[in-house]
Amino acid sequence: MKLWKKLSQEQIKERIFHALGQNVNFYEENILGVPGSHLDDRVFYQDAPFLKDAPYLSTLIHNPNHIGCHTLGTSESFFKGTQVIEREVIRICAEDILQMEAPEEADGYVASGGTEANMQAIWIYRNYFMQEKGADLSEIAILCSADAHYSMLKAANILQIDALKIPVEDSNRQLKAEGLKDVLDSASANGKKYFIAVANMMTTMFGSVDNSTIYTDALEARELPYFLHIDGAYGGFFYPFATKDCSLDFSNPKVTSVTLDAHKMVQAPYGTGIFLIRKDFIQYANTKDASYVEGEDYTMIGSRSGANAVAVWMILMKNGPYGWKEKILILMNRANWFTEKLDELDISYYRHDYSNIITIREKHLNREIARRYGLVPDNHHNPNWYKVVIMDHVTIEKLLPLIEDLQAFANKQ
Ligand SMILES: Cc1ncc(COP(=O)(O)O)c(C=O)c1O
Repeated sequence: MKLWKKLSQEQIKERIFHALGQNVNFYEENILGVPGSHLDDRVFYQDAPFLKDAPYLSTLIHNPNHIGCHTLGTSESFFKGTQVIEREVIRICAEDILQMEAPEEADGYVASGGTEANMQAIWIYRNYFMQEKGADLSEIAILCSADAHYSMLKAANILQIDALKIPVEDSNRQLKAEGLKDVLDSASANGKKYFIAVANMMTTMFGSVDNSTIYTDALEARELPYFLHIDGAYGGFFYPFATKDCSLDFSNPKVTSVTLDAHKMVQAPYGTGIFLIRKDFIQYANTKDASYVEGEDYTMIGSRSGANAVAVWMILMKNGPYGWKEKILILMNRANWFTEKLDELDISYYRHDYSNIITIREKHLNREIARRYGLVPDNHHNPNWYKVVIMDHVTIEKLLPLIEDLQAFANKQ
């Protein structure tokens, strides 16, 4: 581990208040040209004594705008203190979690969520193919699994390119190589020449992990230009800690970018997607017309709260790398306990070996059980599966009544 170290609460407080001290102070300085300010103090009371011990809430009140991307060029100098914190988050994620090796450094930013981070990747690659290869929109396609998150389809719609879904095996949720072959045959016949392959590091519904070599082998065998993006919105803070063999990170030279999401496993506030990409690509999302923004803008979103980067940084530092690993091991152990119980009851489910999502076949429960335990179906109208996600609050005490209800349901069948 290079940058990521466990810090004490006192050290965390000191770093964040120091960072805020480097930012502009709307209360005390004459800042007359910015369409932003601290939070409205008639609504958000700001004199509470506990705030001096509350770095995140204090950051919310100071309200830094992290507009732009802070890993390259210049950035808005008004918020330079907390931008340093965001740069550290990006480096920790790229280098300590996703194995990017020095001297390589990632570009990236804290996005609104996984959807935006995925879209940012696809936007960059679409623009690359158009600018560098003269590609027409109709010649570019996204390749993703049938289990991919619906943000793929949103991105395709907004960016006006096609998304092609690759079928997966029903029982193990793995990409079907034959299915990809068929999709590529028909894509080529329809004039597609450039591909943006998105591999999942844990899918939303199943927690399954794609074998990215199925994409890269097939595309390389056909000499088709492609980029490989990893959607780790769900699994990016889980899978690399659960397995010793994570090839869906920057140690794989074929991976160009990764999406993570701190508002899922990391329990950060919403608005903490993380977009990471190797150097020399984010320029393809540069909006030069953002001339009033110091350093221009390379992101999809525009204005965004610096408090989000601070929240992610604080959580990572509070846990430290080993604390984080222990947290993941606890969740894995609970998932193991739960699947052992399901096995004893002869209930069929899908679980990837290194995942904390257990997806149960619909025949083993009814809608009432699903409602009682907040189990999410794959499809609300016509469910085939229901998932249990072993999060921090999903303890064995809370899983036990579900097991009892599943047993009672099985006995009635
Ligand atoms: C694999 C995956 N990708 C992308 C997303 C979208 O993330 P968000 O809801 O933060 O936009 C999700 C959300 O569940 C996800 O599970």
